[in-house]
Amino acid sequence: MSDRPLLVLNGPNLNLLGKREPAIYGTDTLADVVRLCVETAAPYGVTVDARQSNHEGQLIDWIQEAREEHAGIVINPAAYSHTSVGLLDALSACDGLPVAEVHISNIHRREAFRHHSYVSAAASAGVIVGCGVQGYAFAVERVCRLLKAPLSGVSAP
Ligand code: DQA
Repeated sequence: MSDRPLLVLNGPNLNLLGKREPAIYGTDTLADVVRLCVETAAPYGVTVDARQSNHEGQLIDWIQEAREEHAGIVINPAAYSHTSVGLLDALSACDGLPVAEVHISNIHRREAFRHHSYVSAAASAGVIVGCGVQGYAFAVERVCRLLKAPLSGVSAP
């Protein structure tokens, strides 16, 4: 199971990271985030399969694939966090796979409609909120630690 890649999923509008509302989301791009995830997982011998979609059904299809093909999931569901029972159901069907949810911004300090995430109920490995893009590193580290110990001689960042 842990030789499978870790699925890092990003939802709608996160392809615009770096350009989109930088005062809220910062100036790092999605490519920077993916690099951070890859570097964080490497000391554990875990590879990263990073995908982004603006489409709810595509995200659900990928989550269903993960049941057979991935070791765990780190997901920033973006706006679908606050609306999607479909994503919750897909993640709930990934029984046994660690799932960590990330939000770059602190959704609890923002508009009331962002305070609730449907996805959190399926986040078996935890929810990381408001740590900027560093939250992805925390989430990847958390899932990797649940999967396996760091390779000997390689120090985790
Ligand atoms: C977000 C927070 C969501 O409310 C928002 O719709 C996003 C990004 C975050 O990472 O802070 O697109 O998930």
